[in-house]
Amino acid sequence: MTIDSAVHTPAPADDHFLPGPVLLLGAPGVGKGTQAQLLMAKFGIPQISTGDILRENIAKGTELGKAAKSLMDQGQLVPDELVNNMVGKRLAAPDVHAGYILDGFPRTTVQATWLDAHLGDSGETAPLIAVNIRVDEKELLRRITGRRICPTCKRIYNIYSNPPQKDGFCDVEGSQLQHRSDDTEEAFARRMKEYDSQTAPVIEHYRLSGRFREIDGAVPVDQVADSIITALKELRGQFPKGTFNPQAGL
Ligand code: AP5
Ligand code: MG
Repeated sequence: MTIDSAVHTPAPADDHFLPGPVLLLGAPGVGKGTQAQLLMAKFGIPQISTGDILRENIAKGTELGKAAKSLMDQGQLVPDELVNNMVGKRLAAPDVHAGYILDGFPRTTVQATWLDAHLGDSGETAPLIAVNIRVDEKELLRRITGRRICPTCKRIYNIYSNPPQKDGFCDVEGSQLQHRSDDTEEAFARRMKEYDSQTAPVIEHYRLSGRFREIDGAVPVDQVADSIITALKELRGQFPKGTFNPQAGL
């Protein structure tokens, strides 16, 4: 398994506020990756995207990548045990101490239970806070089919809402942009089905924890970012560093 390139280079933190461990929740295409990249740049904490780590393993031809490839292409979830192990290794890296942004994990109640039991393993003392991004399903399909990704820097574009300056090429790297192999109408329908049956209960799990906010993702990217940052500041004010209880997983 490979996790190396998911380890980020720290950026300067913003106005002394550190969000700590954060979960970004939401259906396929709501903007979790887009927002996680902005938060990572603003606060200097890493994004941990299980989808990105799995795609990296596919690109490198690892055993994990081989096990995940056809499931991902069809829009099905990768088995919990494989994903939990992968996240466990990533959370053991030294760059997560000041916090991290989990994007696309947990996605099943088994994964959520696993995470609750392992919080604190990496030494964090701030409780996890969760933000759920909501967007209408019709808009999601348009976002998914219009998405393009830079294979080098992983920047996320959209041919409708955020096109590159030069058609088909990354503004920063100049690399040819790629279309994800699961960004088809068919795979999207399957991903939404998995989301409704497996991930919706996870959202309820975090809603019930009280360390949770829901925000509107159907507005421009910078407005979504403002809402997330406001939510994180409010939640962290209520659940500051030092109030985490590893025994209770809270
Ligand atoms: P993953 O990569 O996590 O995909 P996903 O959850 O389906 O979410 P996406 O990455 O598609 O969407 P996003 O919310 O990140 O949106 P983005 O910011 O890119 O998982 C892929 C697969 O891996 C899964 O199906 C599964 O097989 C496997 N997997 C991953 N994690 C797993 C787990 N925990 N357990 C088991 N299996 C797992 O934005 C989308 C588009 O919209 C972009 O083009 C963007 O430019 C545009 N956009 C973003 N925000 C806006 C806005 N405000 N206005 C207009 N356009 C916008
Ligand atoms: Mg994503």
